[in-house]
Amino acid sequence: MWPIATAATAALSLAGVASSSRLSARNIVYDGKISDSYDFVIVGGGTAGLVLASRLSEDSNTTVLVLEAGHTGDDVYSTIAVPDGTYFQSLTKSEYDYAFTTSEQSNMNNRGLPWPRGKVLGGSSAINGMYHVRPAQVEVESWHDLLEGADGDDNWTWDSFYAAMKKSEIFTPPTDETAAIAGIEYDASVHGTDGMIHTSYPGFQFGLNGNWTPTLNSLGVASRKDGAGAENWGAYITQSYINPTNWTRSFTRSAFIDPLPQRDNLQILADATVTKIVFEKGDSLKATSVEYAGSATASASSVKVNKEVILAAGVIGSPQILQLSGVGPSDVLTAAGVEVQSNLPGVGQHMQDHLVAAVYWSTDADTAGKLHTAGVNTPEFLSYINSATAYVNLTTLMGAEGANTLLTSIKDSASDATRYVPSADSGVLAGYSAMYEQSVSLMENTPTANIELLLALTGDGAVGIQAGLQHPLSPGRVYITTASAFDSPTIDPGYLAHSADLAVLREGMKMARKIGQTEPMSLFLGNENSPGDSVSTDEQWESWIKDNAGTEYHPHGSCSMRPQNKGGVINPKLIVYGTSNVRIADSSVFPIDMSCHLEAPTIAVAEKAAEIIRTQYNVKGGDDSSSSSGSGSDSGSSSGNNDDDNNDAAFTMRSGAFWTLATAFVVALVL
Ligand SMILES: Cc1cc2nc3c(=O)[nH]c(=O)nc-3n(C[C@H](O)[C@H](O)[C@H](O)COP(=O)(O)OP(=O)(O)OC[C@H]3O[C@@H](n4cnc5c(N)ncnc54)[C@H](O)[C@@H]3O)c2cc1C
Ligand SMILES: *[C@@H]1O[C@H](CO)[C@@H](O)[C@H](O)[C@H]1NC(C)=O
Ligand SMILES: *[C@@H]1O[C@H](CO)[C@@H](O)[C@H](O)[C@H]1NC(C)=O
Ligand SMILES: *[C@@H]1O[C@H](CO)[C@@H](O)[C@H](O)[C@H]1NC(C)=O
Ligand SMILES: *[C@@H]1O[C@H](CO)[C@@H](O)[C@H](O)[C@H]1NC(C)=O
Repeated sequence: MWPIATAATAALSLAGVASSSRLSARNIVYDGKISDSYDFVIVGGGTAGLVLASRLSEDSNTTVLVLEAGHTGDDVYSTIAVPDGTYFQSLTKSEYDYAFTTSEQSNMNNRGLPWPRGKVLGGSSAINGMYHVRPAQVEVESWHDLLEGADGDDNWTWDSFYAAMKKSEIFTPPTDETAAIAGIEYDASVHGTDGMIHTSYPGFQFGLNGNWTPTLNSLGVASRKDGAGAENWGAYITQSYINPTNWTRSFTRSAFIDPLPQRDNLQILADATVTKIVFEKGDSLKATSVEYAGSATASASSVKVNKEVILAAGVIGSPQILQLSGVGPSDVLTAAGVEVQSNLPGVGQHMQDHLVAAVYWSTDADTAGKLHTAGVNTPEFLSYINSATAYVNLTTLMGAEGANTLLTSIKDSASDATRYVPSADSGVLAGYSAMYEQSVSLMENTPTANIELLLALTGDGAVGIQAGLQHPLSPGRVYITTASAFDSPTIDPGYLAHSADLAVLREGMKMARKIGQTEPMSLFLGNENSPGDSVSTDEQWESWIKDNAGTEYHPHGSCSMRPQNKGGVINPKLIVYGTSNVRIADSSVFPIDMSCHLEAPTIAVAEKAAEIIRTQYNVKGGDDSSSSSGSGSDSGSSSGNNDDDNNDAAFTMRSGAFWTLATAFVVALVL
């Protein structure tokens, strides 16, 4: 039978979350004193940036500087470290979050939507929901196809990318007790074990999670033993970025930086916002220095670049800095008062995001919210975060006939759809069309998911099931409107411009509701509190979605890797077109959306970047043993690590209506 919906905690060791003496600051510069020049200047000490910093500085004969706009995070390290802080002490909307707002979305009743992004060492990996999910092989193959055989494309095959994803990882299986309660299965062979960042499962589980895959099975969705291999679709409890030695968040600072010994060749400077890259003009632009400042009113400092600048400022920061430096669409630059160094129309284009919404029910069953209210605070309980997922395709959502009808209309609207692209540039339009074609092929010829379903147990007396759109066709963009790095650029994800996106999300919401109405899950749920009975026709769902859906926090693609004549920004070696020594390695580079959360592929991009760069310079030097081959990391061998945790997810309440419920709980869903 199904596990019953009561909480159970396994008798696990009480490793000390409490003692978080921080030893880890060895490579962080606290007195502001840095050198005049570095071989590599990494812009952004976020998720990807700290991976790169760690890997590039393994070569002791090369110097590396990281410039991070946010604070070190030292003051909130213990908040970051506790997984459950993601829901109950979230750092979103604090000074550790950019807390962007999108432009008014014309297809969502002109709402400007909240858009969190981490602003701290570790970036969004310090505030996110800690889900570890990888893209499917077929999706990485689509990405590879979009490169059209360009030099270096062999780095972006499945084999190469899969190896990079495993390289970073230290996987620890669940305890027998938690596995039994939540129905967790795993395949250790698809995981790495001697990398830097921990993937594991919470030390505490709920029977409701154990009801997840059986309920999905009843709806025709097969269980997947482990989604981290080539096939990520189906229903499963996925891994989380948790260090099970002390039930803390594993994020790129705790995993890739804090365990390192003092490295004289690595310096990390926080509170340093990069304002521009300075170029020398020649056949191509050569970055010679980087300017940064502590605030909009502070005077800028400058640091020289011996070899390269690597942008890892994320999906907003990377295109913003390029544009501020004169590399981008000339009309955008001119309007913002920035002198054009290189007209590159794709900078900021092709951005897409997963849009998500949730159905909520009341419940008497134990949930994390209920136990939190009751004051439970063991380290195991505090490591609980949501991780029940299911990835489903169009056939599952709409039946074969419905899927065919939708696919036909998507194909028929292919050429017309370019009008949704916020650019007149023929290359950008061609890039969009190529992405569109690949997306259609994934939907039509592979079981790749169009919808992700998630079970959220963070409410007190409430359960949420979320549906998130995975392969949107609507294109968005990001662009500066002033010449200041301290002004937010305009963020327009273009949500729901293409009507197929609305149709797919609508079917996803229906499926979310169906899950809650199907046994065994339904045995533990009471009334549907939101959206409730008043929403049931297609029309009602669509209008409700426009009012209630929000970001799943997975924007990407604003500096995409694709040919220059397709509106690309970087080539397969990550070099920005028109420059000789500026690369980008972060979540802005994906040329197509993928059915996963983005931390895992972002870390893998940074791993690949480090390999490509080290190969090019063939840097030899003393290899810093504690980090180079991987056994060090945050698993305890090194003395300085502090894995602390976080908060991620935003607790943005996506459903306005939800707040009006009598049982409103103050927790937001974290993805
Ligand atoms: C609330 C939330 C929940 C999420 N949940 C999950 C999840 O559960 N699982 C998952 O896999 N993914 C999740 N994601 C997505 C994932 O965290 C991001 O896609 C990923 O971390 C992005 O990494 P990045 O390196 O591209 O950018 P970031 O990690 O955001 O790093 C960019 C860094 O650059 C810095 N920067 C920006 N501009 C400048 C500048 N001008 N000068 C200097 N520094 C600058 C920023 O301060 C930041 O530190 C979530 C994201 C959020 C925001
Ligand atoms: C990746 O790129 C590097 C450097 O350009 C190259 O040496 C390597 O062969 C490429 N291929 C793979 C599979 O990593
Ligand atoms: C979609 O998923 C279903 C159920 O797993 C499967 O039978 C079907 O073949 C998939 N569709 C495609 C196009 O692969
Ligand atoms: C370090 O690199 C410099 C140039 O980048 C080179 O001259 C020197 O020989 C290198 N030293 C070692 C030990 O590799
Ligand atoms: C968690 O354990 C790691 C070693 O495994 C340690 O470096 C880190 O400081 C610990 N975190 C806390 C908050 O105690």
